[in-house]
Amino acid sequence: MKRCVFLGLGHYVPERLVTNQELTTLMDTTDEWIVERTGIRQRYWVPGEMGGSELAEHAAREALTRAGLEPGDLDCIILATLSPEHTFPGTACFLQARLGIPGIPALDVRNQCSGFIYGLSVADAWIRSGQYRRILLVGAEVHSTGLDISTRGRDVACLFGDAAAVAVLGASESGERGVLSTHLHADGRFAKALWIEAPGSRFHPLRISHQMLDEGRHFPKMNGRQVFTAAVQRMPEVIHECLRTNGLSIQDVALLVPHQANQRITEMVARQLGIPMERVASNIERYGNTTAASIPLCLYEAEREGRLRPGDLVVLASFGAGFTWASAAVRW
Ligand code: UT7
Repeated sequence: MKRCVFLGLGHYVPERLVTNQELTTLMDTTDEWIVERTGIRQRYWVPGEMGGSELAEHAAREALTRAGLEPGDLDCIILATLSPEHTFPGTACFLQARLGIPGIPALDVRNQCSGFIYGLSVADAWIRSGQYRRILLVGAEVHSTGLDISTRGRDVACLFGDAAAVAVLGASESGERGVLSTHLHADGRFAKALWIEAPGSRFHPLRISHQMLDEGRHFPKMNGRQVFTAAVQRMPEVIHECLRTNGLSIQDVALLVPHQANQRITEMVARQLGIPMERVASNIERYGNTTAASIPLCLYEAEREGRLRPGDLVVLASFGAGFTWASAAVRW
């Protein structure tokens, strides 16, 4: 049976390190508040003009090298982001040009924190059907240019970091290794609990006005409590769904890789599942929430640290804006 397997992982974080201490010079906040409520100590922000496709190019070249492949070996790009470089075309098109591989399809996925797993689900189906053989799956975010870096926006601004992380995916005929299943969900009734309102094509006659800018309606807004409560309910649910589908239990999981939204969310999810933190990936302390990049960034580090061995069961899980939530089981 053909399965979608991970051939190589890559990452890139911009060089500008922003500590909680630096944030205290930009807004009314403290290192203690941020660490206690989120687990975040630092994040990286782009040093100047730098789009998601640039971050992704560095990550992609590393992943290709680690897979022993060239850009020309790819036959598809799927890129998940909530911070597109431009309104259109999609960031995947800019990345494709950077990699110098014209002609292959370049698809943007817009599912926020669940973007990487939504993209994995599409890639898995395409690879198993034989439509594409080698897919570059990317999570890339430049949050820092879109944050309200002031006391008004401190609840959101302290959370997010910039990064890209990618996986080169291919086909294995053995049927033992690879993606076992993916599980995707959304509930658009809560679309405005975490969103950026403007610019938006529904506004008339223009997508954004000076007044909207003055009101900060182009910045992300979040009902933190509502997102938190839903995350700690939906993530265990979708992980159980994933394990049930494959006839597995939490004891079988060698590594749980949850989206890095908040260390308290990760710990509450782990507690509900009864999985010890040694088997849960966490790097939010160093990178903050990097949205679509957070799961592949964790996978990248786990592999570098020797925490992913052939045959291990790895479960990925996410919750975020939309609301969207998702999981995937992978036999490494
Ligand atoms: O990727 C998925 C999307 N995001 C998430 O999953 C995030 C989910 N939510 C959360 O992680 C948490 O709700 C936050 C970390 C965002 C906030 O933590 P909280 O414990 O829910 O705090 P809160 O929003 O209830 O705010 C408590 C207080 C407020 O002050 P008052 O009204 O009690 O006087 C806030 O104004 O903390 C204040 N506050 C801050 N204080 C210092 C909010 N942000 C900050 C800040 N520094 N950065």
